[in-house]
Amino acid sequence: VSLKNFNTFGIDASARYFVEINHEDDLVELFMDPQWKTTERLILGGGSNLLLTQNFNGLVIRMNIRGIEHRVNHQDVFIEAGAGEVWNDLVNYAVRWGFAGMENLSLIPGSVGASPIQNIGAYGVELKDVFESCKAFEIASGTFKIFDKEACRFDYRDSIFKQLKGQYIVVSVKFHLSLIPNINTRYGAIEQELALRHISEPTIKDISQVVSHIRVSKLPDPSTIGNAGSFFKNPVITLAEFKEVQERHPEVVNYPAGDGYIKLAAGWLIEQCGWKGKVVGNTGTWKNQALVLVNHGGATGQEVYALSSQIIDTVYRKFGVMLEREVNVV
Ligand code: EPU
Repeated sequence: VSLKNFNTFGIDASARYFVEINHEDDLVELFMDPQWKTTERLILGGGSNLLLTQNFNGLVIRMNIRGIEHRVNHQDVFIEAGAGEVWNDLVNYAVRWGFAGMENLSLIPGSVGASPIQNIGAYGVELKDVFESCKAFEIASGTFKIFDKEACRFDYRDSIFKQLKGQYIVVSVKFHLSLIPNINTRYGAIEQELALRHISEPTIKDISQVVSHIRVSKLPDPSTIGNAGSFFKNPVITLAEFKEVQERHPEVVNYPAGDGYIKLAAGWLIEQCGWKGKVVGNTGTWKNQALVLVNHGGATGQEVYALSSQIIDTVYRKFGVMLEREVNVV
């Protein structure tokens, strides 16, 4: 089965076996067959955080469980969504109903089921800010388990599911939103765009529109140019390490990241090394965002991977900072 249409990088790799899960029970049934317990597996949502570097000689499990339901209790809103729902459809559902909390996460590619895995985040909000719990299938026991927020151990682009890789499959996620908006415009670009539109008291719909606009102007559309969003994480380094970098590069873009830690803008580091907008064979970095690697057409996963290694190398040599890949490399 070709996976070309199942990864936003548009890499033409194939899978030996492929199955689509439309209901929780499909998973129970699937894993009753002992063959699948020992076969290598790849769980696929929207395929928007994935780089396929070769054909996959195992079973691809595509999550397609649908459904969105909500319950309102005074000002609290609880929404439960199937893992296979498109993330942005859920955001639009919430915004339409006037449920506040996820508007800053508008237009993030991918599925609901993938959202807790790497604690997706953008424009000042992270998934953990609206997360209540999720239900996951435990492959070893064939049963379902609920993970509350604490159990998920969310951190920057991280959760328990990364450590338990391959052991659980998220089937649905429950979110805690509110009827009372808590508008977050701390991110500079949002404020600027609101000012341009002469909006002084933004609604959640305004925020959703502004965030969508910013994303479209800065990030390549995967339906025309293959990509997986930010290819690397923004590196978090110690204050002492930061002092060294800053001494040699006083203009280094940085953000506080908790006690004794500083987060650097990986896009800035990459741009400083001359990579921004560079085309290398069929691949390259995006002209408006150096942190995004793109497939200009016909790129192989190996090619993209090789470019990412080169970038890691040059950034390390110039800044002494090691970039870590954010995408899931298979
Ligand atoms: N910058 C440059 N050159 C570039 C890109 C960025 O100098 O080519 C510098 C600029 O100073 C800019 C700063 O880096 O102000 C931050 O850039 P941006 O606002 O684009 O955000 P980011 O840190 O590069 C992160 C997330 C994005 C998310 C945005 C907005 C990560 C790995 N990425 O990117 O998430 O949309 O913030 O909140 O944390 C993703 O994870 O796939 C993703 C797109």
